[in-house]
Amino acid sequence: MLTNAKSSSKRDLYDQLAAQLSNLLAGERDLIANAANFSSLIFHSLPDLNWAGFYFAKNDELVLGPFQGQPACVRIKIGQGVCGAGAAKCETVIVQNVHEFPGHITCDSASNSEIVVPLMKDSRLVGVLDLDSPKLSRFDQEDAAGLEQLVRILLSSLMYQNRER
Ligand code: SME
Repeated sequence: MLTNAKSSSKRDLYDQLAAQLSNLLAGERDLIANAANFSSLIFHSLPDLNWAGFYFAKNDELVLGPFQGQPACVRIKIGQGVCGAGAAKCETVIVQNVHEFPGHITCDSASNSEIVVPLMKDSRLVGVLDLDSPKLSRFDQEDAAGLEQLVRILLSSLMYQNRER
């Protein structure tokens, strides 16, 4: 099902992933199922990742959702770590070197850089997408724009109407 697009430009790669994700999520609005397939698609398609997945907002915490990679910490307070910073600001956070980020939470010692993209629905925080890389400075503004595009596809899939549900 997945095409190997690792030799394309980053923008092309995200455009291909957007088309693949739209097909993968078409006709399904279950958040857990769609977040699980999202995690698998990007983990196996984007180069140099050691972790890709979701945390969902519950009260004042983020709780671990579907992911690919090593087992991870389950609960993160909003405002703590990179995930909590992205959730508190409701903005994408790029960290070039996690070892220099105050309060970074280490789940996998292989991680050296990280990007967190908030999931916002009707101006409310649903959760965050979190990607870790063993490479320093793995993520840039093109990744932020590409991942924000993918997150919009995930969020719009939740609006899918199916009479049987
Ligand atoms: N590093 C994150 C914790 C989650 S793991 O990377 C999967 C943080 O500082 O919030």
